[in-house]
Amino acid sequence: MQEDAAEVLIAPADLHRRTVELARQIEADYAGRDLVLICVLKGAIMFLVDLMKELHRPLEVDFMAVASYGASTASSGVVRLTKDLDMSIQGRHVLIVEDIIDSGRTLQYLTEILKLRQPASLRICTLLDKRARREVDVPVDYVGFVIPNKFVIGYGLDYNEVYRNLPFVGVLKQECGNM
Ligand code: IMP
Ligand code: MG
Repeated sequence: MQEDAAEVLIAPADLHRRTVELARQIEADYAGRDLVLICVLKGAIMFLVDLMKELHRPLEVDFMAVASYGASTASSGVVRLTKDLDMSIQGRHVLIVEDIIDSGRTLQYLTEILKLRQPASLRICTLLDKRARREVDVPVDYVGFVIPNKFVIGYGLDYNEVYRNLPFVGVLKQECGNM
């Protein structure tokens, strides 16, 4: 499985170091406020777990799942909600935790529907930002790493549901994906 990664883009130690930095920043920014983390399934699970372990303050967690139609290395832009939150976010300080922003369509859709529920605030924290691919403008408040326009796997990110358990972020070999 590791052999299907052409290169290690972000090693475990670097993922950890950056996650700690983000956690310190989030702790400072949310001092004196409540905090609800919303994890976007499934890709953000590893990042959510590592980030919440570094947040030394009270917080709540809930989950949402979205799917973009089709299984390929390019997202279709058509997004569908497959699992909604269990809790109400009205009047709460909400931070969306995402694995990667590519075109921006998934997060645009999510922020639109979450804003309607009148949270006290709504911010976005993404581990990875493939900025060159952005098609719609989404304001992102916390970014782990800006990465080049390559299809990445591991640390929660999949290709056809596989590779999520790799402990690093790697670039998928060309011959393993239909790019
Ligand atoms: P967007 O809606 O185009 O921003 O796409 C966001 C979603 O596409 C992410 O949440 C991922 O599930 C998926 N995605 C985009 N790029 C990659 C990648 O390089 N590897 C794995 N999944 C990706
Ligand atoms: Mg995702």
